[in-house]
Amino acid sequence: MDSSQHLWNAELYQQKHAFVFHYGADVLQVLDPQLGERILDLGCGTGELTAQIAARGADVLGVDASASMVEKARQSFPHLRFQQADARELGTEQPFDAVFSNATLHWIAEKEQPSVLMNVFAALKPGGRFVAEMGGQGNVQRILTAFSNALAAVGIGEPGSPNYFPSVGEYAGLLEMAGFSIAYMQYFDRDTPLADPETGISDWLAMFRGDALNALSVKDRHRVLSAVNDQLRSTNFHDGHWFADYKRLRFVAIKPSTVRYA
Ligand code: BEZ
Repeated sequence: MDSSQHLWNAELYQQKHAFVFHYGADVLQVLDPQLGERILDLGCGTGELTAQIAARGADVLGVDASASMVEKARQSFPHLRFQQADARELGTEQPFDAVFSNATLHWIAEKEQPSVLMNVFAALKPGGRFVAEMGGQGNVQRILTAFSNALAAVGIGEPGSPNYFPSVGEYAGLLEMAGFSIAYMQYFDRDTPLADPETGISDWLAMFRGDALNALSVKDRHRVLSAVNDQLRSTNFHDGHWFADYKRLRFVAIKPSTVRYA
């Protein structure tokens, strides 16, 4: 997580959205941290994946733009290093062998992506790797469409999205423009079960679209949430669980060992 525009509720995140870091364990396999490697966890949230990287013997620094996430991470893992820092303004300490990022890059606006990718590039040693997963094109489209429709029904216009969900082509282009070589990129569907079998979709909206929901009167909020639940029941509820229609973009991008000249 790394969004300075958002005030994150770290408790709600840890209690009801643990799937974010549970699924992050898959991308951690791709990172494959090695003993003694210096690794930056960009958008570390409450620190669970940072701790898993450290458990593999790497020297890891977790950074997140949210003060409440960093505070929670420090409480949960007092032996690890965490700093509050925005991906748009990463300082450069000693370069890293790898930068890792799970479910963070989609919180950075499209126009800010080039400078963030330049910062990541600068933070890596030559030959270093950037291993990340983010929401890809069409991510949570059914939830967001149902939410827009329900808002429209109470007279509220399109809420606008704080997220950027690129296609493979778009993001590969941005990575290459920043100087990376792409070793691997995959786009895939991952319907993701939400924690609470009754309030799963409402919890998801409260966590990730809280600004738009909190701007509503209590009555409209109730109408909007019931309408979203009704609209999504046939597509996003099965086997006793609510699911978020996630689409992921996962990649490994390498900082070349030698500088290339155009
Ligand atoms: C995601 O992890 O894909 C995501 C989470 C919250 C809002 C939007 C996307």
